Amino acid sequence: MASLANKKIVLGISGGIAAYKSAELARALIQEGAQVQVVMTEAAQQFITPVTLQALTGQSVYTNQWDGRIANNMAHIELSRQADAILIAPASADLMAKLSLGLADDLLSTLCLARDCPLLIAPAMNLQMWAHPATQRSLERLNKDGVMVLGPGSGDQACGEVGLGRMLEPSEICEQLIAFFQPQVLKNKRVLITAGPTFEAIDPVRGITNLSSGKMGFAVAQAAVEAGAQVHLIAGPCDLATPLVSSGRILRTNVTSGEEMYQAVLDSATCDVFFAVAAVADWTIANRTKQKIKRQEQTDLDLQFRSNPDILLEMAKIAKRKSKPYCVGFAAETDRLGKHCKEKRVRKGIPMIVGNIGPATFGLDTNEILVVDEKGSKNLGRASKLDLARRLIAIVATRIS
Ligand code: C5P
Repeated sequence: MASLANKKIVLGISGGIAAYKSAELARALIQEGAQVQVVMTEAAQQFITPVTLQALTGQSVYTNQWDGRIANNMAHIELSRQADAILIAPASADLMAKLSLGLADDLLSTLCLARDCPLLIAPAMNLQMWAHPATQRSLERLNKDGVMVLGPGSGDQACGEVGLGRMLEPSEICEQLIAFFQPQVLKNKRVLITAGPTFEAIDPVRGITNLSSGKMGFAVAQAAVEAGAQVHLIAGPCDLATPLVSSGRILRTNVTSGEEMYQAVLDSATCDVFFAVAAVADWTIANRTKQKIKRQEQTDLDLQFRSNPDILLEMAKIAKRKSKPYCVGFAAETDRLGKHCKEKRVRKGIPMIVGNIGPATFGLDTNEILVVDEKGSKNLGRASKLDLARRLIAIVATRIS
């Protein structure tokens, strides 16, 4: 199911050059299933036209407090009454100042004052405007009033300067809005996750690895951040972007080998929940060479394999001593999923294992998983990896509560 299905969002646009990205944001929200009603300030219309937003959202845009289209002539009340959230992107310094003081001299500011729903803003301005004590005062007051402030990011600015004040990218804003609507079932919990494959070197240019895209582990990381957790994601070599970076609640450590992953996990073992999603290579190369092995015609190569540490097993031992973390293992099997999962759960000494049949699902955005714990097993069916991760987080939250 789309992550914003049935959500009615008022997208407020104030005057700033980042307004050109609001069109992309509107599109992203719609793709996630939201109904988007755009409200623009006078200044916003200097940067992007209502026609663009109307075409993208399929709804006529409101720009004026005295708009006669709403029967009772109270657009500011009607629009906020219907909304699940108001999202303002970009939010200019001027708009932030107005909102922080409760001023209401145009439709967007009046709408915010009259609202009965959450307000999220994505500030966008020149770095000096952002750093100005007046803007920082507005920010402090808005935070205190419960307004959720997304960003700003740092980087190149339209004015040619580089620094803090850039609006977050539309995809990041959309990601954060989706997260905002998720139940906060892991609020303030520390969650450690391994994801992706490991790579065991044979020599500087060769190695062995497992088939794993990392998508399931990254989906679990995203769902955990959405649920309010502080997440440490330890990733083997994979080409995926860290989810919800702009939330400030996810730390990523990249590792290569199983041994490195093991050390990184031990360094972070003080956590509430551990998800071992990584496809750790079972063996590493004992006779690895520092120089490239030269190929000699017709000569075979003898590799010696040494077992890698079983990270999950070691964490399960720690958990037994300290009654933390709650350990969740993963198992990709080619056959008899239920049987193998049950056996593996007991063998590893963990409370929960999540199984799936591979390798057909490797690299896909969808999966079908079986959740096995001491109560029995539950097939969560086929869905996107993110949907499944959210459901898994909800189940784990009930086990640790
Ligand atoms: O024993 P097997 O590899 O089938 O178990 C899979 C589970 O164990 C996964 O959760 C995987 O992340 C974890 N594992 C681990 N360290 C290893 C091997 C597997 O943490 N060396």
